[in-house]
Amino acid sequence: MASKSTVILGTGHYAPARILTNDELAKTVETSDEWIRTRSGIRERRIAAPDESTSDMAVAAAKAALADAGLTAADIDLLIVATVTPDLPLPAAACIIQHKLGIPTHAACFDLNAACSGFIYSLDTASAMIGSGRYRHALVIGADKLSAIVDWKERTTCVLFGDGAGAVVLAASDDPNRGIIGARLGAYGDSVDLLKIPKGGSDNPATPDSIAAGDHFMKMKGKEVFKLAVRAMDETARDILEQHHLRADQISLVIPHQANLRIIEAVSAYLELPMDRFVVNVDRFGNTSAASVPIALDEARKAGRIKSGDLLLLVAFGAGLTYGSALIRW
Ligand code: ACO
Repeated sequence: MASKSTVILGTGHYAPARILTNDELAKTVETSDEWIRTRSGIRERRIAAPDESTSDMAVAAAKAALADAGLTAADIDLLIVATVTPDLPLPAAACIIQHKLGIPTHAACFDLNAACSGFIYSLDTASAMIGSGRYRHALVIGADKLSAIVDWKERTTCVLFGDGAGAVVLAASDDPNRGIIGARLGAYGDSVDLLKIPKGGSDNPATPDSIAAGDHFMKMKGKEVFKLAVRAMDETARDILEQHHLRADQISLVIPHQANLRIIEAVSAYLELPMDRFVVNVDRFGNTSAASVPIALDEARKAGRIKSGDLLLLVAFGAGLTYGSALIRW
């Protein structure tokens, strides 16, 4: 039997209409456009409307990816939603999205929480499930409404994040030279405290006091995250290249998690790959968590930056701290 691979049939993304600029933020917290731009590369971010949920954004991105793939929701038998901001703590956002899209009830639907690495974790999971032969068409969505878990009074975090969604449709292919070549996933569980929401989980249910203290918002030790992020992204990129006997200069395009331009520049320097081989849109979106990599992938495709036969490297890190990379032959 010919060996099969998993290919991306279509991509799509959605960004909320509301643009929040650095200058607007500087009116509400003590910061400046200059500080945000020089420390992070971010100029503006998108913010979901109050009545716009993670699932609404995910559905819009998924519809675009399905149309791009030439498929409909009825074709999907596996839905994985990478998110840390599901509409509800219970049940999974995937079930809400399944219903809104009209994906059949025989489809497997679940959420995956690996923060900003969630899309790459989900891509590898879906690829393995399709590789098993038990699923035909997977929809993988990265969607986050971080504006709902950011403390808008805390300048060290609120300037960095935004909302959005990106999606891909996957299927098996008989062409072993195309598709997802491999993935490398990992986590530094000893660094949970670097980025977390301290209260509101089962160990520390929210109380009036914890809410008054803002402990239901994201807390981050930015400097430590920065250092570990650069190390994790560099190491996972090197690992996956080595595993597949490839050199960095054979990569056509790197699609990195968009957290901070300086992190992307550091990875570019470590890999000795010029910045023009990196997709960068952090200036317009900020850090959209699980949505960041699929939004960048879709934008790069629509801008004509990805051609058939290109070798793509996806690389990300996130709360956990999780990290992951994936190689795709387009
Ligand atoms: N405006 C103005 N000043 C600020 C701001 C702000 N928004 N935020 C912090 N400062 C101040 C600090 O208080 C500090 O002042 P001090 O020197 O008087 O103490 C000074 O600026 C420098 O702060 P640093 O933390 O040293 O700044 P740094 O250069 O490290 O940049 C940043 C901070 C942008 C947070 C950086 O460390 C970073 O990007 N870290 C990685 C964060 C990240 O990627 N998180 C996402 C993880 S992914 C996920 O799963 C969600």
